[in-house]
Amino acid sequence: MGGLSRGDFVQDVRAAADIARLVSEYVSLKKAGRKLKGLCPFHNEKTPSFTVDPDKQLFFCFGCRTGGDIFKFYMLTEKVEFPDALRQLAVRHGVPIPRHAGGEGSETARVLEMHREAAAFYRATLASPQGAAARAYLERRGLGAETVKALGIGHAPDGWDGLKSRLRRAGFREEEIVRSGLAVERRGGGGSYDRFRNRLMFPIERVGGGIIGFGGRTLGDDEPKYLNSPETPVFHKGRHLYGLSWSREAIREAGVAILVEGYTDFAALWQAGIQNVAAVLGTGFTPEHGRLLGRFTSKAVINFDADRAGRDAADRAVSVLLEQDYDLQVLELPDGQDPDDFIVAHGAEAYRELAAGAPSFVEALLVRAAEGKDLSTPEGKARAAGEVLPRLAAVGNRVLRAAALSRVADRLDLPEEAVREEFRRIAPARRADEPPPPPARAHQRPSRRITEAERRLLYLALNDAAARDRLLASAREEDFQGFACQRLFAAVLDQQRGGHPVTVEALEGIVETEDRERLLEIALGDFPGLAAADWEACWNALRREKLEEESRRLQRLLQQGTEETGQAAQIDELLRRKLELRRQIDALS
Ligand code: UTP
Ligand code: MN
Repeated sequence: MGGLSRGDFVQDVRAAADIARLVSEYVSLKKAGRKLKGLCPFHNEKTPSFTVDPDKQLFFCFGCRTGGDIFKFYMLTEKVEFPDALRQLAVRHGVPIPRHAGGEGSETARVLEMHREAAAFYRATLASPQGAAARAYLERRGLGAETVKALGIGHAPDGWDGLKSRLRRAGFREEEIVRSGLAVERRGGGGSYDRFRNRLMFPIERVGGGIIGFGGRTLGDDEPKYLNSPETPVFHKGRHLYGLSWSREAIREAGVAILVEGYTDFAALWQAGIQNVAAVLGTGFTPEHGRLLGRFTSKAVINFDADRAGRDAADRAVSVLLEQDYDLQVLELPDGQDPDDFIVAHGAEAYRELAAGAPSFVEALLVRAAEGKDLSTPEGKARAAGEVLPRLAAVGNRVLRAAALSRVADRLDLPEEAVREEFRRIAPARRADEPPPPPARAHQRPSRRITEAERRLLYLALNDAAARDRLLASAREEDFQGFACQRLFAAVLDQQRGGHPVTVEALEGIVETEDRERLLEIALGDFPGLAAADWEACWNALRREKLEEESRRLQRLLQQGTEETGQAAQIDELLRRKLELRRQIDALS
């Protein structure tokens, strides 16, 4: 019999998962031959150099040189260590986790597990007699069974330890339940009690899958109206958007995301069939929110509440998103209604129309700046310009900024040059005018360039068994001395000699960081038309490069020698060797 080893477990997860599918949850990928390309999630770029190879199940960014397998990708994007990546990918793909793999399991995995249990518990409560009041509340608000099911909405019962007891029975310790945010420690010690009691529960999922927190709405007038999970190692309000885990496909398809403030706003729009929506979690909009959303779109309609707080929050979101070159519209609904109120009162069609016709952010700024001013007077124009222009400083993109400035001039009926001059005076130094920062980890670029010959030869060795056999038959480790891929070739020869596999995965385990990058760069490189039959030509080219390098070295020695004079015998010897090299090089050509 024998137990399942950790290696087998890793292989099982690898076999069940698919890197292209995982990556496309984060990056919009386009087909490029047998590979897929997209904008790198690990550094800022405008043209795609991030490559995924579905055949090899590897990724590599030719810009920032980050690369690896599905586990590496998951670790980097979800910011977890290998054991967590392994377990979480296993859970997502239904691979059973062997008992001894990772002992008790890491904290993150257990927090996710507790939240999954909690959501199931809340759903069951909603369906039970205890959930009658919550069901009536949902009905009053017009949220139907299908929406409740799709969003996993539940009800936390009105007791002190309903959830805690259940989690304890499932094997979770009291301290970790408290750390997960699901229970609160009693003041002065003495145990803990359920955080959420008698509330309508909205589970908060992260885009990568798994419930990480909850928002709980009171059914009455208790304070606070919404109680949210506290910040924990897995839940950060500033990093997640409510609903995005469900809406990301709709957002990608629509090419635009509607941003709202509330759980119920999301639910109402979703139910009305407007599903390209995401909600902030009762916190300010952060650059991380912008980047998260940026995986799916670069266009947004901001539809926050029209009250003072909502306007401030919308302003902040606008600034953040403009910095990130988003194309923005700002929608303010009439009569101070939030999206939920509006949909309930006027229906989806009316909402769609308003959203489609929502003013661009410049228009929205101008409308607001016009409030209470007489734009026919120079004073009124100056005050309006004084309100609008500082906000335009946030526009990162120069073309968009120029368009915005001319729109302001147009609307305020001022000469464009005057508006530009005033803008320069207000916002003299623009970050966007400075050169972009160097790509991350640029300093780690390999010191020595990889030559075309070694690139092609290594690619063949990785992809063709016959090429590997011929390499083993003809090449010695010294042949690669001085080449950038010297250690990689040595590893290939070593594996081949020992009858071990020569795969990227196997080699990755035995070489160091810089070589790992080179390995991925070559394994995922483009070699149009390169075939096993080209082996001979590649091998000869590499040997010629080596001989020519040696020849150049001798030439340098000869020059030094003649400058120093007097070492006739040695110079003769160098000349003789150089001629011999030339003969060998010619023979290879
Ligand atoms: P709102 O007060 O606008 O509530 O808060 P709402 O979304 O319209 O909710 P309903 O329609 O009364 O049920 C907007 C968002 O701000 C956060 C929540 O995320 C909420 O959805 N919030 C609000 C809190 O986190 N805590 C609160 O006490 C209130
Ligand atoms: Mn509301």
